[in-house]
Amino acid sequence: MKVSVIGAGNVGATCAHIVAEKQIVKEVVLIDVKEGLSEGKSLDLWQTAPINYYNTRLVGYTNDYSKTAGSEVVVITSGVPRKPGMSRDDLISINAGIVKSVTENVVKYSPEAKIIVVSNPLDIMTYTSFLTAGKPKSQVMGMAGILDTARYRAFLAEALDISPLDIQALLMGGHGDTMVPLPRFTTISGIPVTEFIDEEELNAIIERTKKGGGELVNLMGTSAWYAPGAAAAQMVEAIIMDQKRIFPCCVKLEGEYGLHDIFMGSPVKLGKDGVEKIIEVNLDDQEMQLLHQSAKAVKNVMDVLDKMNIL
Ligand code: NAI
Ligand code: 2OP
Repeated sequence: MKVSVIGAGNVGATCAHIVAEKQIVKEVVLIDVKEGLSEGKSLDLWQTAPINYYNTRLVGYTNDYSKTAGSEVVVITSGVPRKPGMSRDDLISINAGIVKSVTENVVKYSPEAKIIVVSNPLDIMTYTSFLTAGKPKSQVMGMAGILDTARYRAFLAEALDISPLDIQALLMGGHGDTMVPLPRFTTISGIPVTEFIDEEELNAIIERTKKGGGELVNLMGTSAWYAPGAAAAQMVEAIIMDQKRIFPCCVKLEGEYGLHDIFMGSPVKLGKDGVEKIIEVNLDDQEMQLLHQSAKAVKNVMDVLDKMNIL
């Protein structure tokens, strides 16, 4: 069994490393457009195998998609970061072009692969990959909810001085400032989070979560990669091992939550067939309103992409 990761940058290399260490596939293939980068990163990573005791073979190739043939899962992390002077629309157009050409190559050599998109803007790039791939919506999904929920859980664990392992949480919507953390669906070993924390402190954590990506950009001058790579690897594992895990992932909604033809975060069941079920929880009026606000923000950017006529 094989998993391929496209884009051997920070997130791609981290994801490849974590998937390899999980020992769930025989081979992890890294692909990048930059000459030598995927070869170098995969060689360096492979040399951790004797130290960290795993067998998964890590290999890398410059733009040679034939080496990805027969992948069960492909993770797309390729893209460019927003640079000074670059408008949001420029970024969308450049990254959509990259995700489109990458998806075409992925599908050519691995028509059965489940595709996990990580490139930003996440919901829009998942939409791009879906339109390009011509595959069922269950096979093209985006990673954001696991990361955003992990940030929320980590902040809660720190504030309450408890283990992050005991915190279960749900977060929905787009991967941006309008994401919707859901305190009513946040529990600590089955106990509602509101038994542990007052509303003001919880709201502060929710606001910090919404800006969690930006906080790290401000600290590091570039976006995060350890938690994003780990989150994508967790989705890979759920599919490869047919775990039927319930995670928030970016998926195409077709009527769920009253939303149509939009890509954004919802709880789903992940197994060998990809997104095996979209789970519809009962949201109250206020939660539903926040979700629809988030959907509006995502839809606006989907419309920007549609008007560019690049797909
Ligand atoms: P990075 O700049 O370290 O890596 C991106 C890699 O993509 C580079 O090595 C570049 O050479 C490669 N690339 C560019 N065009 C390509 C092409 N046509 N084919 C193959 N490779 C190509 O960036 P990083 O930090 O790894 O982030 C990757 C993407 O993931 C970015 O778009 C970032 O915004 C996004 N991201 C998304 C998150 C999420 O929650 N969904 C979280 C963190 C990052
Ligand atoms: C993150 O949330 C920027 O999407 C990136 O870290």
